[in-house]
Amino acid sequence: ANDRPAAGQPPTATYESAFLKACRREPVPHTPVWFMRQAGRSLPEYLKVREGIPMLESCMRPELVTEITLQPVRRHNVDAAIYFSDIVVPLKAIGIDLDIKPGVGPVVENPIRTRADLAQLRDLTPDDVSYVTEAIKLLTAELGSTPLIGFAGAPFTLASYLVEGGPSKNHEHTKALMYGDPQLWADLLDRLAEITSAFLKVQIDAGASAVQLFDSWVGALAPADYRRSVMPASTKVFESVAGYGVPRIHFGVGTGELLGLMGEAGADVVGVDWRVPLDEAARRVGPGKALQGNLDPAVLFSSTEAVETKTREVLDAAAGLEGHVFNLGHGVLPTTDPDALTRLVEYVHERTAR
Ligand code: CP3
Repeated sequence: ANDRPAAGQPPTATYESAFLKACRREPVPHTPVWFMRQAGRSLPEYLKVREGIPMLESCMRPELVTEITLQPVRRHNVDAAIYFSDIVVPLKAIGIDLDIKPGVGPVVENPIRTRADLAQLRDLTPDDVSYVTEAIKLLTAELGSTPLIGFAGAPFTLASYLVEGGPSKNHEHTKALMYGDPQLWADLLDRLAEITSAFLKVQIDAGASAVQLFDSWVGALAPADYRRSVMPASTKVFESVAGYGVPRIHFGVGTGELLGLMGEAGADVVGVDWRVPLDEAARRVGPGKALQGNLDPAVLFSSTEAVETKTREVLDAAAGLEGHVFNLGHGVLPTTDPDALTRLVEYVHERTAR
């Protein structure tokens, strides 16, 4: 289901796209660009089609998902599309009582804190998310040579929502469980790894050309705790999709101290937030992996000249890398001017044209 050329067949235009080449660390015609949270958020055409439709419901309507996923591709000329969904969609699909509250984020009705609570987590089957398969089929037909990135939340970040019951600054309940009941914690993360793996496979089988594992909040952990309590589950996810041959991207916020381990977990591309320059990130990650990042999303609120200056800093730090996918250091902020994003794509393409 991926774009790897069959024996004796010419590679597809998608396989030869700048984005997938950069992920594979092959020479590119220009540095490819996409933005985390490019779908939705700042686009007026997004707000228009979402009017009156709750977030989770919108994720279950294939035509709407297709339209929202395509909007930033049409508008910004980005080099990849990211599937419009949310990290909690597979949890909702297996029957967890949760909702996405506007301006808040995912809220879980019955947080998971005891062994008995684990019974809430059953395996995910493709039938639970048939709307995902349907939407990705529609999308790949529309996207032409533009690759589609599938994604999932990593076990730690999903666990943080399930255990806290909602967004959290300090992750105190999550850490209490991780430190206080390591066996229950390991079992929880293992269950989540199974669900995440199944969800990524559905997306790849349907036609996604790459996958990104979002461990957005794992930067809250020290490296020793990450290695002991989180890395085994994330490694399991990456190994489960290794055989498909699609690039696997691994991203978290505030993960400067974890970059080496996050690469080791099995990523082909390591996402970097704006706190670590890409040349330093490359030293921490080591050879054999591409990097993705890392303009501070807040820079887009400054003048065009300032955006260009900060963008050149990112590109200069990336000059010696084997593979670079340009992105922001975290998601597009909701009040970002869409035109600033369009200009940024154009600037990176022009500046890096070879
Ligand atoms: O990247 C994309 O454009 C694809 C769509 C996407 C969404 N969520 C849509 C969304 C992706 C990739 C995500 C991932 C996601 N969701 C992450 C990892 C990425 C990151 O930012 O670190 C996390 C942590 C979540 C959990 C979540 N869901 C949060 C924190 C929020 C924002 C709450 C808010 O309103 O500020 C959501 C809701 C959400 N997910 C929205 C969208 C478009 C907004 C919902 C709405 O408009 O009602």
